[in-house]
Amino acid sequence: MPHPLEQLREDALREIESASDEHALEAARVKYLGRSGTISAWGEQMKTLSKEEKPVVGKLLNEVRTAVSAAIESQTGKFRSQKESGALARIDVSLPGTPREIGALHPLTQMWERSIEIFRRMGFALADGPDIEDEWHCFDALNTPPDHPARNEQDTFYLPDGRLLRTHTSTVQIRTMQGAKPPIRVISPGAAYRRDELDATHSPQFHQIEGLYVDENVSVADLKGTLEFFMRELFGADTAVQFRPHFFPFTEPSLEVYVKSKALKGGERWIEVAGSGVVHPAVFEQVNKARDDKAYDPEKWSGFAFGLGMDRLAMILFDIPDIRYFSQNDLRFLGQFG
Ligand code: PHE
Repeated sequence: MPHPLEQLREDALREIESASDEHALEAARVKYLGRSGTISAWGEQMKTLSKEEKPVVGKLLNEVRTAVSAAIESQTGKFRSQKESGALARIDVSLPGTPREIGALHPLTQMWERSIEIFRRMGFALADGPDIEDEWHCFDALNTPPDHPARNEQDTFYLPDGRLLRTHTSTVQIRTMQGAKPPIRVISPGAAYRRDELDATHSPQFHQIEGLYVDENVSVADLKGTLEFFMRELFGADTAVQFRPHFFPFTEPSLEVYVKSKALKGGERWIEVAGSGVVHPAVFEQVNKARDDKAYDPEKWSGFAFGLGMDRLAMILFDIPDIRYFSQNDLRFLGQFG
């Protein structure tokens, strides 16, 4: 006759194997292995056995306990992996994922990068200066007298201490000449400020690249060659460039630059894109005075300067109808330049 412990093992293993869920399994564990379970009760009973019986029954009891524990463990593992694969089955791996939004450079930044790259190929270095300026760098040094309309309070943002927000980045040209002797070949990208009402084509803050080229024997021909090259690189090889006489206090002669290109919206219309001119000798003299030397002797050195509106160029190049779009941070607009 088999030992009752063997019958117990058989019953326990069958019960564990047929447990339909975790609760049934836990009930079986408590029933057999729990503190007052059947197997534990046998342990208690050991004390009452004879010397001869003890080792035999003890060994069997150990075997039964090990077998039941192992069966419970393996059944627990089975339930766990069933649960996990059930959860996985509910995931539809064929569904499209959530696409990651890819950022893009702001159109003005793109415009700046393209422009700087073209000028860099012609040997222009980058120069920088402060947005908050003094009147001397913004006007006096640039041969712009105190009664010039640009200096009017209606046109320029003044700070209480008399300083101002620069109305152009020509200020950087002056700062560059104060700090270095000729020859000079720099461009200065940056923000400029004027008291304009905000509308589709005007903004109190806009963005420029101004350029300065000073060397011996620099003429209008160099100016024209440089700007024509730039415009054709930017707007396409078949772009026509026209220079029309104009007035700026700091250049003589002064020229406005117009382009016409079939690739551009508006097709055969001349579009004004830049101001330029040959540096006025009075500008060199102002710089000499500030440097307290004759480094920019107008008899020896000559130069040209130009100013390009980045907002305007970007509007033309990317066919943007309203300057306000640049600063409204509307992703529907910005997302078109990725
Ligand atoms: N400073 C001028 C402006 O902002 C542009 C310019 C620069 C014109 C250099 C001529 C020479 O309008």
